[in-house]
Amino acid sequence: MEFLNHDILIVGGGGAGLRASIAIGEENPQLSVGVISKVYPMRSHTISAEGGAAAVIKANDSLDAHARDTITGSDWLADQDAVEAFVNEAPKEMIQLEHWGCPWSREPDGHVAVRPFGGMKIERTWFAADKTGFHMLHALFQTSLKYNNVTRYDEWFVTRLLVDDGRVQGVAAIELRTGQVRAIGGKAVILCTGGAGRIFPFTTNAAIKTGDGMALAYRVGVPLKDMEFVQYHPTGLPGTGILITEAARGEGGILVNKDGYRYLQDYNLGQPLDVRDPRHPQKASMELGPRDRLSQAFMKEVEKGRTIKLETAVGPVDVVHLDVRHLGEEKINKKIPFVRELAKNYAGIDPVYEPIPVRPVVHYMMGGVSTNIEGATIVPGLFAAGECACVSINGANRLGSNSLTELLVFGARAARSAVKFAADHPQINKDALIAQAEDEQRQITQRWFQKDGSETIAAIRLELNKTMEAGCGIYRSEESLKKTCDDIRKLKERYHNVGISDKSISFNTELTAAIELGFMLDTAEAVAFSALARQESRGSHQRTDFAKRDDEKYLKHSLAYRTDGDPRIEYLDVVITKWPPAERVYGQQTS
Ligand code: FUM
Repeated sequence: MEFLNHDILIVGGGGAGLRASIAIGEENPQLSVGVISKVYPMRSHTISAEGGAAAVIKANDSLDAHARDTITGSDWLADQDAVEAFVNEAPKEMIQLEHWGCPWSREPDGHVAVRPFGGMKIERTWFAADKTGFHMLHALFQTSLKYNNVTRYDEWFVTRLLVDDGRVQGVAAIELRTGQVRAIGGKAVILCTGGAGRIFPFTTNAAIKTGDGMALAYRVGVPLKDMEFVQYHPTGLPGTGILITEAARGEGGILVNKDGYRYLQDYNLGQPLDVRDPRHPQKASMELGPRDRLSQAFMKEVEKGRTIKLETAVGPVDVVHLDVRHLGEEKINKKIPFVRELAKNYAGIDPVYEPIPVRPVVHYMMGGVSTNIEGATIVPGLFAAGECACVSINGANRLGSNSLTELLVFGARAARSAVKFAADHPQINKDALIAQAEDEQRQITQRWFQKDGSETIAAIRLELNKTMEAGCGIYRSEESLKKTCDDIRKLKERYHNVGISDKSISFNTELTAAIELGFMLDTAEAVAFSALARQESRGSHQRTDFAKRDDEKYLKHSLAYRTDGDPRIEYLDVVITKWPPAERVYGQQTS
């Protein structure tokens, strides 16, 4: 087997992966980097980020305030040393991105504009209209092109981490064009593969977000941290799950129920101001409260029968209305043009004239590959950054607009530590890596090409989606979680009998989907078992049978380790530096 080799490998070509590749070039342009991505980098999910990226820039703001909002938003589960590093390094990363060509929206006097965002008590969300991810990814991509040391493997799908002598030393990847498994060596490997929203049925996430990096790490003994914390974004389009950005509310949009009532005032999120009040939109209150609280309020409205039933292609769904009509056409076109475009194309309504039907949809995994503050995992040579990692700055609930900045700060950090690691570990065992990649090729051939199966990918995926929503949704209980854990056990068994009917070699998307399904099952089991073990309610993890936060027992990160049976759940202390746990209060007007 042909052997490809680089100093450092990056798996994933989205925001975190590209930032990491640039950081390696900045540190040492002599190091060779391989960026391996199952899609062309400009199709990575970062492209669909809309509302903005948070960093302190204005005189009325402070690093302390950004840290405090993030920690409060996390329901005190974020590691405070990581949050401090994050807020400190965020402004530099954002300014640098401007120098790399990111066209941040401006105020009339030319200064960078910021908008309010959920759970942030001060406006600090930088934006490029409502296509922020698109512009950030372009700026990162074009900057990465200037580094000759970066080789891209676009449309290569990593299926296995290669480990020798207890160290990750490379990957096995299918070159999708030829269908061949290749061995690629690297003294260090950084996983930047994004989240796993596709384990749920209603999600803002692209079809590629199947938990690949999480499962790859989990399979070589790295624990997945805080997986029970799954973020529902309060405003997805029904049926498709397409994101209607929080920026719509940041610019003054309001949420109303079937009676036209701003229902969030009933959920300790503050009182409504008149939409014409100059202090509107309200900061960290009402529609700009944190996502966990807004999604929970929606579920209560469903219980009270105050939502609207909408017929969609996937059946009737409950929705509320996001109303931006009072902003007027000019502001809508200038600040949230993509919201208008999406609502017109995917909901068939023009938000200038009609309210947008929305409902909570899975958006982000707070949990992920457990890393330290430098992006290193417990397995030497393996690093992770971006949504696939859990450092953790997001704890039990991420604040909107922290994740784009997180992928810059921690993409760069993981890269710098990988550079050091590679310098200290110059040798890799080429023969052992080739042998493992050959074994991977053999297993793929036998399992998928020489055997037929009695089960289909679609059936298992659908059942996984259903049980995740039913058991691990916005509200969970021991009963619902036990059922989901049990369902996943059975689905994992059935997965052994999945077969594919397409036996072609080139761009075999059925094969890719089959392997992704295995990654999804692993990721899903970590979510469900971690949620079952955490007998408290915190942030996005709301247990109907343990309704209160329990700091005495659970001010801790969960760590899910893969075993031959159910995952083993352990706990790790949260790092508290300056902000002792307190009650999470929203709704106080700050003006
Ligand atoms: O609503 C949004 O634009 C999402 C932003 C985020 O998740 O950070």
